[in-house]
Amino acid sequence: MGINLKSADLIYPYFVVSGINKKEKIKDFPDVFRFSADRLIRDIWQLKRLGLGKILLFGVPDSKDPEGSTAYKKDNVIASTVKKIKNKFPNLIVMTDVCLCAYTTHGHCGIINRPKTIDNRLKKEKFIDNKKTLEALSKIALSHAEAGADWVAPSAMARRQVAAIRQALDKNGYKNTKIMGYSAKFASNFYGPFRNAASSRPAFGDRSAYQLSYADGKKALREIEDDIKEGADIVMVKPALAYLDIIKEVKTKFNYPLAAYNVSGEYAMVKAYCERSREEKKMVLEILTGIKRAGTDLIITYHAKDVAKWLKE
Ligand code: PBG
Repeated sequence: MGINLKSADLIYPYFVVSGINKKEKIKDFPDVFRFSADRLIRDIWQLKRLGLGKILLFGVPDSKDPEGSTAYKKDNVIASTVKKIKNKFPNLIVMTDVCLCAYTTHGHCGIINRPKTIDNRLKKEKFIDNKKTLEALSKIALSHAEAGADWVAPSAMARRQVAAIRQALDKNGYKNTKIMGYSAKFASNFYGPFRNAASSRPAFGDRSAYQLSYADGKKALREIEDDIKEGADIVMVKPALAYLDIIKEVKTKFNYPLAAYNVSGEYAMVKAYCERSREEKKMVLEILTGIKRAGTDLIITYHAKDVAKWLKE
């Protein structure tokens, strides 16, 4: 007996750019690339052959503005890519990240008050314009749902983002589109390679006004509870490794579908060590089995393709 990790437990994240024939390397992010839609589709054939069936897409736009409007404009990079993917792979579960940080010139996850002058040590309410942010997030989610996304995954940590998106989806006839809430998202130091991939590093300040403090586990539980009440179909703890206690507590307390994000910095640490050792397979299987054992139903991980390969051996 014990925990059996399966390919069906895993979600593979992809970074998407516009244009054609692009497969770009990313700084400090070994074996992860930014793909244009055509090259992405080629990669998905491979992923499907390995037995994986779920992907999570992050858009990297050509241009940015303070409102992040390229995230929801017609035929935005995610919407146009999702259409192409669902056309080729109707049964693949396609999830999309719903956030503003890769699309805003300032790199924050919401629309901010008085850009430049604001001090983000101020409370979240003063720093982020929550109402405008919810409007933008709803438009993004809707554009992804219209394109055929099966799940949308709001990651901006805006107050009542799940409720706002659920309402917008329902009103427009997308009752079957599911929501994965990045419910307990910590202001972590493990997001570095991801920010290189999405060029989403904040231009000033940090995300501590809206992401959670790693010292405060109680707040994380409240955020999870809010997302469940607001209608999330699955909730998430992110990152995973320094937060296994939170994962366990959430599962025990709520017994609700739960995902964990094994984030870019966690992945890059293992990859860096394993350049010089032969332990990668054993280490990764141990790590991911541990995350599952703590109480997760799904794990978002850049190791997913390797794991699927190893599980087939
Ligand atoms: C933000 C977002 C982040 C990640 C996913 N969505 C990072 C951040 O808050 O800057 C990080 C994921 C990873 O590190 O793999 N919308």
